[in-house]
Amino acid sequence: MLRIGPVQLRTNLLLAPIAGYCDLAWRTVCRELTWEDGRGLGLACTDLLSPQGLLRGTATSLDLAQTNEFDRPICMQLYGGDAAIMADGARWARDHGATVIDINMGCPVDKVTKKDGGSKLLCIPDTAERIVEAVVNAVSTGPSAVPVTCKLRLGWSNCEPVARTLAPRLVRAGARLITVHGRTAEQKFQGSVDRPGIREVVEAVKAVDPSTPVIGNGDVTEPQHVLTMIRDTGCDGVMIGRGALSRPWIFRDAWSLQTTGIIPPTPSRDQILDITRRYFSLMLEYRDEHYALHHIRRRISWLSKPLSAPLPDSDRPTPVKGYKESVRTAQSADDVFSAIERYREDPWCFSADRVTSLAEAE
Ligand SMILES: Cc1cc2nc3c(=O)[nH]c(=O)nc-3n(C[C@H](O)[C@H](O)[C@H](O)COP(=O)(O)O)c2cc1C
Repeated sequence: MLRIGPVQLRTNLLLAPIAGYCDLAWRTVCRELTWEDGRGLGLACTDLLSPQGLLRGTATSLDLAQTNEFDRPICMQLYGGDAAIMADGARWARDHGATVIDINMGCPVDKVTKKDGGSKLLCIPDTAERIVEAVVNAVSTGPSAVPVTCKLRLGWSNCEPVARTLAPRLVRAGARLITVHGRTAEQKFQGSVDRPGIREVVEAVKAVDPSTPVIGNGDVTEPQHVLTMIRDTGCDGVMIGRGALSRPWIFRDAWSLQTTGIIPPTPSRDQILDITRRYFSLMLEYRDEHYALHHIRRRISWLSKPLSAPLPDSDRPTPVKGYKESVRTAQSADDVFSAIERYREDPWCFSADRVTSLAEAE
């Protein structure tokens, strides 16, 4: 089973940080969906956090770092290019509940790379190594020690797949786990994931320290993809981001597949609506109505995706257009709950959907 230094994970499945999506409410939903043995998601991660923001106590950073006792184990991800500030940010994260601290070496966004953070660190390996050393020295000793990990892309560009040389250096500098997203920074999210490239990083890390886990990441959207990622790359675990946005039960499914060979049935329409309700209620509980409405509007398309396929409690796909629209245009939390319940009672209740489905039937 996967271990990150002193931290034992219950499964080899990790929820990827996805800025703007993986808040406490979402992590809670993903954690709650488990297989019969109570297992599913092994480790969840916050979105990338600015150490300066945490140290100054800005509301945005503190909100992003929000966690609680159920949200364990939790990885807090920091970004930046200044070793001393990263070390101070890591101390803050350790003192505010982090089980693991990750250093972002993959974000391709200009705002982050301009200040030598994210994937820019792939181009300045000495700085990347210094940051890991400083963060490890800051948080990896003493009774409240937390392990430090790094999340990399394969390189900045195809011509320089530096992760295979950088990752072993980071391990020697004290990183206890390496995650590799199998794309370059220049690719952003285009093209498909380069599994042979991930394998090279796995082999390079194992040559330095066979006990350091390497996590494969990218384009895992089905439980079977977890098996193929492990088979093709030799990685120890798999991180899933976008695949979980419409199927937060993917960790349960992938765990069950790995341990029993069975993929559990897809949740029913009712259960999917319960998950949506739960996510929305948790956003109201942890944040406020304004936040919850903003986020449910952005998320309802992802959350309704599985509804448009045949499900265990409805043999034909149900229309989702009117339902999504009524959630998107909701003006209050009550409006959202009422849209969910109306849809639960009668998926054809939104008139445009009824007209469309009648036309299709004809
Ligand atoms: C909108 C968006 C935001 C992301 N934010 C982060 C982030 O904050 N930190 C990070 O390390 N990766 C971030 N990623 C990259 C993901 O963690 C992951 O590496 C990538 O999406 C590939 O995995 P997937 O195919 O399972 O989604 C983000 C990706 C997307 C699409």
